[in-house]
Amino acid sequence: MTSANRPRENSTHDLKTQIARLEQRIAALEALQQVATTVTSELRLDRLLALILSSAVDVMKADAGSLLLHDPATDELVFEVVQGGSGKTLRHKRIRADQGLAGWVFTQRKPTIVHDAEADERHLTKFDENSRFHTSSLIAAPLVHKNTAIGVIEILNKKSGEHFSAYDQELLMAFASQSAVVIEEARLYQQVVAERDRILAVEDQVRRELARELHDGPSQILASMIMGLKFFRQLMLREPERMNQELGELERQANLALHQVRDMLFDLRPVALETQGLAAALQVYVERQGESRNLDFHLDTHSFSSRFAPKVEAAVFSIVQEAVGNAEKHAQAKNIWISLRPVEETVVITVQDDGRGFDLAQVEEAYAQRGNLGLLNMKERAEIANAKLAIESKPGKGTTVTLTLGLEPAQ
Ligand SMILES: Nc1ncnc2c1ncn2[C@@H]1O[C@H](COP(=O)(O)OP(=O)(O)OP(=O)(O)O)[C@@H](O)[C@H]1O
Ligand SMILES: [Mg+2]
Repeated sequence: MTSANRPRENSTHDLKTQIARLEQRIAALEALQQVATTVTSELRLDRLLALILSSAVDVMKADAGSLLLHDPATDELVFEVVQGGSGKTLRHKRIRADQGLAGWVFTQRKPTIVHDAEADERHLTKFDENSRFHTSSLIAAPLVHKNTAIGVIEILNKKSGEHFSAYDQELLMAFASQSAVVIEEARLYQQVVAERDRILAVEDQVRRELARELHDGPSQILASMIMGLKFFRQLMLREPERMNQELGELERQANLALHQVRDMLFDLRPVALETQGLAAALQVYVERQGESRNLDFHLDTHSFSSRFAPKVEAAVFSIVQEAVGNAEKHAQAKNIWISLRPVEETVVITVQDDGRGFDLAQVEEAYAQRGNLGLLNMKERAEIANAKLAIESKPGKGTTVTLTLGLEPAQ
């Protein structure tokens, strides 16, 4: 080789490197664009995460990778998707948010490149031990959205056997920050969908209850009244002296049906609540309930007459309705005490029964499988009313639901 063609070789080599980099950058941008456009059609979080990870592994020209998301409830990182390597065994595994290399990247919110991963003291060997996969080099970047770290993306072993470069790190960081935005969007969408499903489930439950009540109550009574009227027509011809008695029975049934329909209307929309406030609405409610149930209701509103914002009154009222409904359905109670009482700067509302009580922790633990919504709705309504909800119950000792409201003037 003559000294004359060395610079030219060098420049060809530089050019090739630059072209390779540009190609990699274009591939990365294309992958990013694909992820960004897919999110509009692919809002299922699991599929989106898999797509993000596989694109990142492709762009980095690597063998394997994993994407971990932070679970704030337990402060852990969860292996949401794993590609290649010890994929199947790792999926859904959890580590402490400060554990291992991923934990370091997450807590420091910094990327890292490790040339000999298994020798790195931050590396979690226990995950590699069970698999034949050997992690040589590794690159990891935090997923950060609006200044909050939400997870980590880790890419393992470049196919070429080379180490990951500073340039790879720059690309992965760009990829990670775009991905974090997309992940948050998909999460938000999932939350909205879950909330919509919950509202639909509540609506459905209300409709079913209403249908059942209409069927068991007024509709049965009306059917029986029609039969009574037919009988009445025969009486007119044959035994007019019994007409008075039969009319009395028909009147009794009509009154009962009217009462039941009014109860339902009150449950659906307690007008007294809107016009006169909580204490008055509770009064009407207890009168109605007390007449038709085998339960003694005791109400004390301590002459409370202040008004709250409509959404607060509606939320409190429906918490009382649910608590009373539960006492009627589950407690086999003899008495229900409802009280509304100003205490210093707060108003305390309690619903207490002398029924059989229940194990709250046990019920809450199995909640997801049960499909009941009562206690959950109470909690959510308490949040809407900005109130503190406490449920105390012990088997054999009855149940007390206590709601503490700040005294804010009605808006
Ligand atoms: N006052 C109570 N006395 C005894 N058990 C109760 C009482 N309140 C709730 N529970 C128990 O807690 C469970 C959960 O109550 P929750 O209101 O969430 O559901 P539900 O009343 O069964 O159904 P839903 O309210 O959705 O119609 C009930 O099934 C019951 O076992
Ligand atoms: Mg209930």
